[in-house]
Amino acid sequence: MKISIINGPNLNLLGTRETDIYGNKNFGTFYEGLKSHYPNIEFKYFQSNIEGEIIDYIQKEGFSSDGILLNAAAYTHTSVGIADAIKSIESPVIEIHISNTFSREEFRHKSFISPVAKGIIAGFGLDSYRLGVESIKALKDV
Ligand code: DQA
Repeated sequence: MKISIINGPNLNLLGTRETDIYGNKNFGTFYEGLKSHYPNIEFKYFQSNIEGEIIDYIQKEGFSSDGILLNAAAYTHTSVGIADAIKSIESPVIEIHISNTFSREEFRHKSFISPVAKGIIAGFGLDSYRLGVESIKALKDV
């Protein structure tokens, strides 16, 4: 099974960025733990602060991944381009958020990703990504 994880803008600063919201752990450390938890899954990871690079990567992985975990971060709330990319590929995309965006500012309640995602996982800290892996595994089992 192949799973791609895509993180959007400012998520390269996890561990130091707004730690009251996003926690103290950097993504690299978390990702190493995730990979060892699922030794039979082939993971790929991509992070970018640039919208077009995220679109390029969705297009690149969207026909060979069994699923994509996408935390588009701030682009969640603004990007028609990323939503259109998701509509253009075959792999299911799970929208991931570390925080519960619905308990935060109103501008975070709007998501361009949600209507085109297979499902949404938000509010469980970095564990949202592990739950995303479980959701893709479950999709393959049905
Ligand atoms: C986020 C929530 C977004 O609103 C925010 O812009 C982020 C991170 C999350 O994972 O909780 O950068 O996607």
